[in-house]
Amino acid sequence: MPPQLNVNIAGIKLKNPVLAASGTFGYGEEYSRWLDLNQLGGIVVKGLSLNPHQGNPPPRIVETPAGMLNAIGLENVGLKVFLEEKLPFLTRFDTAVIINIWGKEVADYVTIAKELDSVREIAGLELNVSCPNIKKGGISFGTNPDLLMELVQAVRSQLTRLPLIVKLSPNVTDIVAIAIAAEKSGADALSLINTLIGMAIDVKTRRPRLANITGGLSGPAIHPIAVRMVWQVAQAVKLPIIGLGGIMNSSDALEFIIAGARAVAVGTANFITPQTSIEILNGLRQYLVEQKIEDVNELVGSLAV
Ligand SMILES: Cc1cc2nc3c(=O)[nH]c(=O)nc-3n(C[C@H](O)[C@H](O)[C@H](O)COP(=O)(O)O)c2cc1C
Repeated sequence: MPPQLNVNIAGIKLKNPVLAASGTFGYGEEYSRWLDLNQLGGIVVKGLSLNPHQGNPPPRIVETPAGMLNAIGLENVGLKVFLEEKLPFLTRFDTAVIINIWGKEVADYVTIAKELDSVREIAGLELNVSCPNIKKGGISFGTNPDLLMELVQAVRSQLTRLPLIVKLSPNVTDIVAIAIAAEKSGADALSLINTLIGMAIDVKTRRPRLANITGGLSGPAIHPIAVRMVWQVAQAVKLPIIGLGGIMNSSDALEFIIAGARAVAVGTANFITPQTSIEILNGLRQYLVEQKIEDVNELVGSLAV
């Protein structure tokens, strides 16, 4: 018997635990000529805002040792174009569609969440809380527990159908306090981690390599930090967790699952090898067979300490 790979993230039924991470897989269509999207457990689309957003000026991406810095600035087509032009393509596939959303103030998140709640083809919402709140002087929603609670409660109160995943920012001293704040205020699941703030300088010109000066670090460099955070959070909350950060192969993904994640998401690796998620899935299957584990759920949080 092949191992059982179905997992359930707060009511989102995934046929396997491997997702494509937000911002690294476009709206799915961009990758559809490189791999069969039907094989993925789910796709988390690029962060969506109510209105179209241009993002930051270039250069917006820099390669770093064992990773990359990006300062895309959340460029996206906006809700209307997404629903009319992007979602119909995605719904042709047998994979869960999760929408990552962002805003500059609580009201932006609330409006977009309310609109998406009635869209049948969507399986879940993921809140990107790494954005600065312009009304609160630019503090990121995800770094202040009170601000996060206000946001999560406001969005949760608008949802009648969609599970709410809160995607945690690692740019905090106590990730557990933030995770508990999300749980208390009504999150149905957590995903972690988003990128770590970093910076790179061209020493010849003494100029920053990114036009935005700072950017988000992702890729293998952040994997051990992400595994540590997932492990800490899994001890402290009851919510299902999606683990991500620097997953390049099935072993990296397995670390997250053993640390307590019920599903994983592949980000930066998509830019190197678009088929990475499928390779990870095959590696996961092989591992379960070799370890004589019948159901991937048995592995979740099975760290031996
Ligand atoms: C180019 C790029 C764009 C991203 N855009 C988003 C986004 O729109 N929303 C979001 O929540 N995370 C975004 N992320 C963060 C990723 O989803 C992921 O959390 C992070 O990159 C860590 O995973 P990785 O190391 O596998 O890439 C982006 C990352 C990259 C590299």
